[in-house]
Amino acid sequence: MSRQLLRNPSTLQRAATAVVTSGLPHLEHSSGRICQLQQQCKLPSSVAIRRWKSLLHNNNSAQKPATAATATTASTTATTATATRRCSQAEALNARGSHSPFNAPVRNMSTASNEKVLSMGNINANYKAMEYAVRGPIVIRAGEIEKELLKGVQKPFDRVIRANIGDCHAMGQKPLTYLRQLMALTMEPRLLNSPEYPDDIKKRACDLLAACSGGSMGSYTDSAGLEFVRRQVAAFLEKRDNGVPADYQNIYLTGGASPGIKSILALLNCPVGGLPPGIMVPIPQYPLYSATITELGMCRVDYFLDEARCWGLDRKELQRAYEESKKKCSPRVLVVINPGNPTGQVLTRENIVEIIKFAYENKLVILADEVYQANVYDKNSKFYSFKQVMNEMGGPHRQQELVSFLSVSKGYLGECGARGGYMEVLNLCPEVKAVLTKSITAQLCSTTAGQVAISALVNPPTPGEPSYELFEKEKSEVLNALKERAELVYKTLSSFEGYTVNPVQGAMYVFPKIEIPPKAVEAAKAKNMLPDVFYAFELLETTGICIVPGSGFGQLPGTYHFRSTILPQTNVLKEMMEKFRVFHAEFMKKYK
Ligand SMILES: Cc1ncc(COP(=O)(O)O)c(C=O)c1O
Repeated sequence: MSRQLLRNPSTLQRAATAVVTSGLPHLEHSSGRICQLQQQCKLPSSVAIRRWKSLLHNNNSAQKPATAATATTASTTATTATATRRCSQAEALNARGSHSPFNAPVRNMSTASNEKVLSMGNINANYKAMEYAVRGPIVIRAGEIEKELLKGVQKPFDRVIRANIGDCHAMGQKPLTYLRQLMALTMEPRLLNSPEYPDDIKKRACDLLAACSGGSMGSYTDSAGLEFVRRQVAAFLEKRDNGVPADYQNIYLTGGASPGIKSILALLNCPVGGLPPGIMVPIPQYPLYSATITELGMCRVDYFLDEARCWGLDRKELQRAYEESKKKCSPRVLVVINPGNPTGQVLTRENIVEIIKFAYENKLVILADEVYQANVYDKNSKFYSFKQVMNEMGGPHRQQELVSFLSVSKGYLGECGARGGYMEVLNLCPEVKAVLTKSITAQLCSTTAGQVAISALVNPPTPGEPSYELFEKEKSEVLNALKERAELVYKTLSSFEGYTVNPVQGAMYVFPKIEIPPKAVEAAKAKNMLPDVFYAFELLETTGICIVPGSGFGQLPGTYHFRSTILPQTNVLKEMMEKFRVFHAEFMKKYK
């Protein structure tokens, strides 16, 4: 039957209805196979880190410990420059037929000239300049420490706590059952025969499979994603925004929010009036923006969030940044991250109104990164979408050009690896939208699994359906745990000497300001590190806690911060906070 199902969507629909009403035999799982798969799953991350590291270190990592690297712009640039030199030296030596100590692959080449076609001197300079702090040198060192621990190297701790990245499941968050059931059923329609799956999820799976060409998740979808899912997203948005209409044709399904953000920035990458395009980004910012802006050779325009006002956004600061940037670029885009990463703030409605007015008056496209919209913990804060506020403002502001993003990576799902997301594109000129569609078409579609995950996000079980109670329970468990941890982290870190901490109103991060004593600043200088990088490395080597130094996100000159996630499970987070407290007290004693 399953083969017939796959060939013919309408047969599929009929069969599924039969399944839903009759219930069919149970399929056995092989736990041995699952164990084997779990083992395999562990391999790729270490392999990936090794490969990336060898790339960064020009295949020379064995001779040069990663500890020497820092996350600073200056030092990374220096590292890149050194790598470039090494590559050229290696090539020069190879050209003379000499042995290269630097680059094994060069040595092994069998081309006539014995030279690599690609070298650090002839690849895209923007790629070399680009940095991504969240997975920078400190994280590489954390990976090394994990391996050292496995080998039995003695440390003052027995494990690394990875509080550096917003990867929920990696930190122990459990997947929601209904989403995984939906993914399983769509991937393996034979499971539609199993009585283990509830009827409402089977119905959803059948609808999705019927929407896929050939009734299979293995077929391409439209480049913008399955129309069926885009319509579901539109319905979700209308509900979220109190009835503000949403047109599915403005919705593009993307592989997480990141590719959507990158495709919009690439679309806008055009000089205006002889000046490069300027992208206004909040500081501190999520490094995807700085990395993409560098990669595309665009001009980053920093505007500073107001730490003293809980990382709020001040119109005067926007204006200052805008005016100053006009000397070097033509500002075109205003990026807003709400709720904020790394800052954890939730913008007030008044703030959003001000931002929309500013963007409208200054002819800027707003990129509203709203991936944390379900992550609001503070009882006095509420998420307002830019789209809804813009519509409520009425008049010309309704015509504001806006692109907003959502993803299954965050919220209560935390399905970072599913790579599901969408962007809603509003008020773009139709010709421009056609060009965007064309460019997206050239990339084919996002993964069907990611599209199913987005479908699950926007169309969860509803009251009365068999899966509803479990869905509600699991969802509130995740969100309540995050809220509890947001409070725990804020409360604990606020009690540390020299720390200034804003409450974690939303998202998944805390971004405290730390006073680093002058003696520690000197010690950092001696190691050619920025003070916040030095602090983060000391913390890692002493406690195994991995955080990201504030310089990776941007911070007011002369101030030092770090970002920690609130994602470790509560018991681990408590242990982490205690280790942190002891470390900080010792650090202050040593350097004060
Ligand atoms: C503010 C923000 N935007 C976008 C992303 C990208 O998420 P994804 O591409 O996994 O959807 C992240 C990930 O952490 C984020 O924090």
